[in-house]
Parts: sequence; C-alpha cells; structure tokens
Amino acid sequence: MAEEFAGLDGKVALVTGAATGIGEGVARTLHAAGVHLAVADVNGDGVTALAKDLGDNCRAFTLDVTDGPAVEACVSIVEDTVGPIHGLAHVVGIQKFGQVAEMAEADFDATFNVNVKGAFLVVQAVARRMIPREQGSIVAIASTAARTPRIAQGAYCGSKAAVAQLMCVAGLELAPRNIRVNCVSPGVTETGMVQRLMATMETPEVVVGGNLDAYRLPVPLGRLARSEEIADVVAFLLSDRSTYLTMQDIVVDGGGAMGA
Ligand SMILES: NC(=O)c1ccc[n+]([C@@H]2O[C@H](COP(=O)([O-])OP(=O)(O)OC[C@H]3O[C@@H](n4cnc5c(N)ncnc54)[C@H](O)[C@@H]3O)[C@@H](O)[C@H]2O)c1
Repeated sequence: MAEEFAGLDGKVALVTGAATGIGEGVARTLHAAGVHLAVADVNGDGVTALAKDLGDNCRAFTLDVTDGPAVEACVSIVEDTVGPIHGLAHVVGIQKFGQVAEMAEADFDATFNVNVKGAFLVVQAVARRMIPREQGSIVAIASTAARTPRIAQGAYCGSKAAVAQLMCVAGLELAPRNIRVNCVSPGVTETGMVQRLMATMETPEVVVGGNLDAYRLPVPLGRLARSEEIADVVAFLLSDRSTYLTMQDIVVDGGGAMGA
C-alpha cells in the first residue's frame, strides 16, 4: 500500500472530519499507507473510537473547525506531539437544505461558517507551518455541487464553490513555497450525510437514475461512490505521485456531472 502512495510512509497528516464518512475513509487509507495521523472532528467520541481502532500512529483531537483559537491550538499540538504536518486532508462539511426563497438565515450562516470559514481557518493554520519548511500538500473536499446547481441546495452549492476557489487561490499563493493545494469533488457517496439526504429528498435509485424534474442527470457508472474511492484520490494528491499537480479540483463522481 505504501508503494502505491509514494512518499507518505512515516509522514504526518491531519485529517479533519474524520469521525465518519469520507473523512474516516481518508484516515483509514492514509493509515494503511504508513502515515502518522492526527484525526480531528467535532464528534470527539467518533475520532477517539477511530484512533483506538487504528491503534499505533493515530491520535484523536476534538475540534470545532469554526473556532479559530481552537484550530490554532489543535494544529500547534499536532505539530508538537505528532510531528510536522506534511499533508492536510480537510474533509469537514455540512449540508442544510432549503430553496433560496425559503431558506432560514441561520441555516445559510451555519453552512458557510462550517464549510467556508472552517476551511479557511484550518488551511491557514497548517499553511503557516508549512511555509518555512517549503514542503506540503493540502487537499480540501469540495463537491460536484460547486459546479452543478441542485434544487434546495443553494447554500451548500455556494459554499462548496467558495471552498474550491479559496483553495485555488491558496494554491497560487503557496506554489512558490513548494506547497500544493488541490480539491477533490465527490459525487454522491455512501455516508451518513447521504443517508440524511435520502431520508428527506431522494432515493439512491433517483440519484443514480437521474430525475429530470429536478434537473438531475443519471450517474453513468450506475452506482454511488464508496468513501474508499474518494480516499484513494486524496491519498494520491497527498503523495509524491502527484508532485506536479496543484490548483486542481478533481471530480470523482462516476461521470455524474457529465464532465462539467
Ligand atoms: N457524501 C457525499 O455524497 C458528498 C458528496 C460531495 C461532497 N461531500 C463532502 O465530503 C465531506 C464529508 O462528507 P460526508 O458525507 O463524509 O459527511 P459526514 O456527515 O458523514 O461527515 C462529516 C464530518 O464532519 C464533522 N463535522 C461537522 N461539523 C464540524 C465542525 N464544525 N468541526 C469539526 N468537524 C465537523 C462531522 O462530525 C462528521 O464527522 C463534506 O465536506 C461534504 O460536503 C460529500
């Protein structure tokens, strides 16, 4: 496994949003590649259980990524106790539903606070440590929603577009310091977030088969993504297999966004 993700063995990575879903998948893939992990999540019990399950070389941190001083303290402790952060996988994200004409202001604020401000705070705290070392790779999870409009997902789509562009600018600014910054944009992936989506709106059959009334096209590969399939792309971007890749948003969606 370490061979597949060259250069990751023994390096330190921070994975946010690691208690469940895609973040947990990323943590498990990186750990199997020999990465020394710090896993952080507002769900402290979840990351503690994950660290216990993974055993050696994984330390859990309870962290709300919207809390600037807490982010700074967490990154500082990771650097002191786990080691200099080589890779950041920022996976945290939330999804609130509501059409633009109806959505509650509090839901809009929460979406942008967690998805956009959280990404800004975590990337800033990590980048500040990477800059003097002139080494590092940062990956944030955006979404196909950043480029494909979805009904009742205005706040989510807007927040993910903001994350993708924020990372692109960070990549531009950090390139002279040998720090790469990329996004991975999953299509619909089987996680708790999607189970909640299915409970309120859509069945897997509708997502995979398309729903023209909702302007949703079918997924050509004919199934939802698994977290491990997103995690492999994140690990590739953190590894030395992708040393000339920066400022990109890699779409991993089974063709669902039709190449858009
Ligand atoms: N599942 C999908 O279909 C899908 C598709 C595209 C993009 N994404 C994105 O992938 C990422 C992971 O999604 P998922 O499906 O695994 O969701 P999930 O809900 O299973 O996991 C999200 C994690 O983020 C944590 N979190 C939420 N708010 C936090 C905060 N303020 N501070 C720290 N941690 C916090 C949660 O506790 C949870 O562990 C998100 O950014 C999501 O927008 C998911």
